[in-house]
Amino acid sequence: MTRFTYSKLSHFLKTLSCRPPAVRAGAETKAATSCCVQLKRDQSSDSRALQDRQRQQMARGLPKQKPVAGVKQVIVVASGKGGVGKSTTAVNLALAIMANDSSRTVGLLDADVYGPSIPKLMNLTGNPQLTDNNLMIPLTNYGVPCMSMGFLVEDTAPIVWRGLMVMSAIERLLRQVHWGSLDYLVVDMPPGTGDVQLSITQNIPIAGAVIVSTPQDIALLDARRGAEMFKKVNVPVLGLVENMSVFQCPNCNHQTHIFGSEGARRVAETLGVAFLGDIPLHLSIRETSDVGQPVVVSAPDSSEAKAYRKVASAVLQRLQEVS
Ligand SMILES: Nc1ncnc2c1ncn2[C@@H]1O[C@H](COP(=O)(O)OP(=O)(O)O)[C@@H](O)[C@H]1O
Ligand SMILES: [Mg+2]
Ligand SMILES: [Zn+2]
Repeated sequence: MTRFTYSKLSHFLKTLSCRPPAVRAGAETKAATSCCVQLKRDQSSDSRALQDRQRQQMARGLPKQKPVAGVKQVIVVASGKGGVGKSTTAVNLALAIMANDSSRTVGLLDADVYGPSIPKLMNLTGNPQLTDNNLMIPLTNYGVPCMSMGFLVEDTAPIVWRGLMVMSAIERLLRQVHWGSLDYLVVDMPPGTGDVQLSITQNIPIAGAVIVSTPQDIALLDARRGAEMFKKVNVPVLGLVENMSVFQCPNCNHQTHIFGSEGARRVAETLGVAFLGDIPLHLSIRETSDVGQPVVVSAPDSSEAKAYRKVASAVLQRLQEVS
């Protein structure tokens, strides 16, 4: 098995035959796949075209969402902006669902093609092997099969992603994969609430969305936008996770509310969404993440791990309520 390079990525995007997502129209599909990694095109006209198409589409009703083979329920983890701990939450949520009930099977999809972090967080490197019918076999650690653009390219930074390309890449990372049989697929979404996020929510059959936010007001405003986006496309918002809520001292475990308390709880109330719990700002969460040993598996008895497990129970409880 050789390594994927940029040209292989472009080949991957071009050749794997899968039905293009519904938002992609004929001419645009061709343009999107033939200029994969090298062309910087007029972004604003692209996104205007995408918006126009999305408006037409919304008018006709939402596209049919094909289920993902082998996957019972898709849970997306989203945030209004980057750096709020979305990936850390997604990873520990997946592991916490399994820690709470070892009979559950959970997978992880890194839909953040701009800055994939699942490979590092899950301590996984290498390229997926292919099955006989050309499905990628996810890389697995801690019992969680994972798929990420980070397994296919060395460094995604130089890629100039355009909306349709991103959607096409994510569709393949989602559907051209041999997931096996999963109760839940946890999806680490790209940050933000733009066109890309909107088309993902339209093309993936999502059972529910978890919004991650830090307590700062500005981030909470972003969280509000996130929740409203999901409501607009009829994806059930499972609720809000407040990350880095209190500073927990690694020496004595005393807690300091750096940003004030209860912000996320209040926003959840005004938005009419559930509050799924809070995760403390704790050095060990950052350190375990950096070495690819998520706190839920590396320190299962810590209060941090317990916080994630509480969030995981709340998420599954909400899933039952909405489905
Ligand atoms: N609860 C937490 N306590 C301490 N550090 C955290 C916590 N959550 C996230 N981090 C750290 O914050 C940084 C950003 O987190 P990340 O999950 O990559 O955010 P995002 O995916 O939203 O961009 C990382 O260095 C991560 O280790
Ligand atoms: Mg991330
Ligand atoms: Zn202390």
